[in-house]
Amino acid sequence: MSIKTAIVNGVATIEIARPEKKNALTRVMYQAMTDALVAANTDKSVRAVLIQGQPNIFTSGNDIEDFMGSPPRDEEAPVFQFMRALVTCEKPVVAAVNGAAIGIGTTMLLHCDFVFVADDARLAMPFVALGLVPEFASSLVVPRLMGHVKAAEKLLLGDPFTGAEAVECGMANAVLPPAEVVSHARRVAERFNNLAPSAVRESKRLMRSHTTAQVMETIQVEAEIFGARLRSPEATEAFQAFFQKRQPDFSKFE
Ligand code: COA
Repeated sequence: MSIKTAIVNGVATIEIARPEKKNALTRVMYQAMTDALVAANTDKSVRAVLIQGQPNIFTSGNDIEDFMGSPPRDEEAPVFQFMRALVTCEKPVVAAVNGAAIGIGTTMLLHCDFVFVADDARLAMPFVALGLVPEFASSLVVPRLMGHVKAAEKLLLGDPFTGAEAVECGMANAVLPPAEVVSHARRVAERFNNLAPSAVRESKRLMRSHTTAQVMETIQVEAEIFGARLRSPEATEAFQAFFQKRQPDFSKFE
């Protein structure tokens, strides 16, 4: 099983555990994460959710083989269900990021409430490099967080950035030594055991309410373009290049 879940001391943990493929996320894994989030949302014993990867990798993003073989077709696709469950989760979601968080690995952080990153973490949203476009409201949230020109580095060039930069631009709370990230994130999640649960839920809802409609609308607009791009010759070239361990050649495209 490449997603491990557990509920300990009021915290529902979702651990991405597919290190042999750098924690690349498959449809089955999205489904397991969705189930865990939905269950956590209704389980009265759960006060917060913790999402973590492995010591050297958070996630290398969507499984590229899955992208080629069974690309998400509509909003019922497992990746949509997972992101919908995350965006609408009523309880606080805390992320602990060690190593690389690529593609949806970074995108999902934009929808968490607390993000703790290791000092060796590398975040990246290389959608354009894969012939794709930003997803799950990153085209809205990232420019809002850091301004257009910094967002262009991340979303157009796909430049990776450090945990420190993520903190600087408001994407993450704090940078920690790698060995302390998960324990620190867990301690923060456990603080919700001592807080009034309805007040927490209502407050989170209020904080998100001003942007929810725009986020949902943007997700839909992006999804249509993203879906078409997944089948584009540019993306096919990028995916083949990844598995052939070479640089993609976009010189023939207009
Ligand atoms: N989808 C499918 N397989 C992936 C993957 C992904 N997103 N990321 C890594 N893998 C696989 C590799 O194909 C390789 O498989 P193999 O051992 O059968 O050859 C294995 O995981 C190890 O990856 P590798 O690239 O050799 O590890 P690395 O330490 O050199 O690099 C990364 C790690 C994360 C930097 C690199 O794997 C990477 O860039 N992955 C793709 C990230 C990406 O573009 N994601 C965006 C998707 S939207």
